[in-house]
Amino acid sequence: MTILHIDASINGESSASRAITRSIVDQLTIEGGGAEIVRRDLAAEPLPHLTLDAFADTSVLDEFLAADTIVIGAPMYNFTVPTQLKAWIDRIVIAGRTFRYTENGPEGLANGKRVIIALARGGFYDQGSPASALEHLETYLGGIFNFIGIEPEFVAADGLSVSAEQRDQSIKSALGETVRLAA
Ligand SMILES: Cc1cc2nc3c(=O)[nH]c(=O)nc-3n(C[C@H](O)[C@H](O)[C@H](O)COP(=O)(O)O)c2cc1C
Repeated sequence: MTILHIDASINGESSASRAITRSIVDQLTIEGGGAEIVRRDLAAEPLPHLTLDAFADTSVLDEFLAADTIVIGAPMYNFTVPTQLKAWIDRIVIAGRTFRYTENGPEGLANGKRVIIALARGGFYDQGSPASALEHLETYLGGIFNFIGIEPEFVAADGLSVSAEQRDQSIKSALGETVRLAA
């Protein structure tokens, strides 16, 4: 099994999403034994904004297609994905490779992969909460992976900017969930 481990947080060692993806990858490695782990740190080595020339370079897409399981750390920046992660998405959502248009509408071609996403959000965005209309992280990532044929699994740490206690509690609970995800 090949696991592609992606992080995008700019917060280094204090990042919640990085702690959660690390735990998920650790759990999957214990479970799967001998898994090959491919690392892509989009903060340490950012991909440039997409250009026409960049379409010719399929290395990021090939790396994605070669992975069985993809673990993604997704902090919320300004209500959606960090631009670091968006630049990666721009390179994997490619007509003819991960989706195609048919007479019946778009069809995802990347099915069969497992995608696990660690969300880290400063606030709370549950349905019915005052900020729920501004939630464009989980909804976007769910939509884009559905579009290419994948139903992603989410583990979320929320309210991280509310208080130190809330942050500790949310991270602890998300780390606990990673055990369930790997089972
Ligand atoms: C540039 C920036 C923008 C942010 N924007 C939001 C936001 O719109 N909504 C929110 O709930 N939290 C926001 N946050 C808080 C982060 O989501 C929160 O700190 C989270 O822990 C980041 O993930 P990380 O710990 O993995 O870095 C923002 C943080 C940064 C650095």
